Amino acid sequence: MLIAIDGPAGAGKSTVARAVADALGFTYLDSGAMYRCVALAELRGAQDPLSCPIELGGGQVTLDGEDVTAAIRTPEVSELASQVAARPEVRGHLVALQRAMIRDGDYVAEGRDIGTVVAPDAELKVFLTASPEERARRRAAQTGAEAARVMREQQGRDTRDATREHSPLEPASDALRFDTTGLSVDEVAQEIVRLAQAVR
Ligand code: DC
Repeated sequence: MLIAIDGPAGAGKSTVARAVADALGFTYLDSGAMYRCVALAELRGAQDPLSCPIELGGGQVTLDGEDVTAAIRTPEVSELASQVAARPEVRGHLVALQRAMIRDGDYVAEGRDIGTVVAPDAELKVFLTASPEERARRRAAQTGAEAARVMREQQGRDTRDATREHSPLEPASDALRFDTTGLSVDEVAQEIVRLAQAVR
């Protein structure tokens, strides 16, 4: 079974997706981490960033054999990840890897295009949103950055993610939409677990 969780940055996708995966015993796939890895490889001057092996698992992200779990979360990588994610050759490569990863077993996959492109046949599709202020506040709390700055940078990335030509961020027509503003992770995760059990 596959549960697709899409939505903009700070909508609560990662926390909710992890909680749902834990509750159901499914594997969690953070597709954004893969775009971040390509961006980091590029920042580090890799000749061919797409050929650097990416591994996800056990809460760790590995690029070319190196643990980059923390290194892919810097503001520079966030900015470049949003730029590389607009390139069709990057998307094509990562979508193929993601499809291969979720082929066997039960997954909660999180990103921007899981329900629309990576797995349009997912059994359950959820699109999470939250107000821009709440999303910036959550990101600031996670990273320790100033909320006003996070909000400015977030706006730029939101616009780019939503207006790019290839796979722009948009809900699948059959996705269930949740506004997580003012809701706890547990409330949202429990509702998704309940829905997953109903369709299983
Ligand atoms: O979810 P995140 O912030 O870690 O994602 C990093 C960037 O990658 C973000 O700009 C959106 C992009 N992304 C994407 O285009 N498609 C995905 N499935 C996941 C992330």
